[in-house]
Amino acid sequence: MAAQRVWRNRSLVQTLGLSESDVRVVLTRAQELKKMWLGWKGSEFPHASLKGRTVVNLFFESSTRTRSSFELAARRLGGDVLNFTAETSSVTKGETLFDTARNLEAMEPDLLVVRHASAGAPLQLSKMIKVPLINAGDGFHEHPTQAFLDVFTIEEHRGTVKGRHVLIVGDIAHSRVARSNIYLLKTLGARVSVCGPPSLMPPSIEKLGVSVFHDLRKALESADVVMMLRIQLERQNQMQFPSLGEYSKFWGLNAETIGSLKEKAIIMHPGPLNEGVEISQDVATGSYSVIMDQVRNGVIVRMALMDLMVGHD
Ligand code: CP
Repeated sequence: MAAQRVWRNRSLVQTLGLSESDVRVVLTRAQELKKMWLGWKGSEFPHASLKGRTVVNLFFESSTRTRSSFELAARRLGGDVLNFTAETSSVTKGETLFDTARNLEAMEPDLLVVRHASAGAPLQLSKMIKVPLINAGDGFHEHPTQAFLDVFTIEEHRGTVKGRHVLIVGDIAHSRVARSNIYLLKTLGARVSVCGPPSLMPPSIEKLGVSVFHDLRKALESADVVMMLRIQLERQNQMQFPSLGEYSKFWGLNAETIGSLKEKAIIMHPGPLNEGVEISQDVATGSYSVIMDQVRNGVIVRMALMDLMVGHD
């Protein structure tokens, strides 16, 4: 019980700097909740640890998976959810992020879940408000809950990530998912590599303790886990490669390139997919793919985090 209290009323802004033991507390809670969820047959989920608690989903950027799964996760645990979308709020009349958050805080929620296009916005907010906060993705900085659900999914399929080779492919430079995964996977002892066009590789990426591959087929040969990334065109002033067709030819996963994979390798993607660019439709739905497991586990892992942060004992 004492170990679980390390998350009590704490904010989760980034995976950088988390200790292995604190990460393991979340993954263990997620395992317990998944077991409970799969064994549940009644009308009301018995672990209603968020009953009487209110979670505010504060999204300044669009989302399908993250926002829906935070809402479902809170409701499964008996909590109330307030969904805020910038386009239909007083942000359109010039209200700032900080005033918006301060006003919502005055309504006494128990947890804020924040997505914002600006890297660093959730960190700033977390310093200004008293309510615990979860970063649901900020610019190209971090997306910590995505990394937690990714690690949880890898361990379900392949056992501990310690010593596993996880290959992240694509637009590493603009990817908050890549950054959060690199930090979390390295903390847990995985071997992490990246692969993609040099123009989409951040400078000095090796300093994060990852190896860099420039040949996708070669990289695939030793990978236990392949994480494909969408090209984040919304975060680039201009396209950093000649054409999508060319990108797909060199960096895409398709029926031909998966021929280089190990038999037990798994393919992941945080979504949304750009089918036919970084991944073909048949590969995304094929036997190596665990993409829908990632989505299912997204709800479970977010249940675990909210339970630990603001749930009743
Ligand atoms: N993986 C992810 O963050 O997806 P959404 O943008 O749909 O939330």
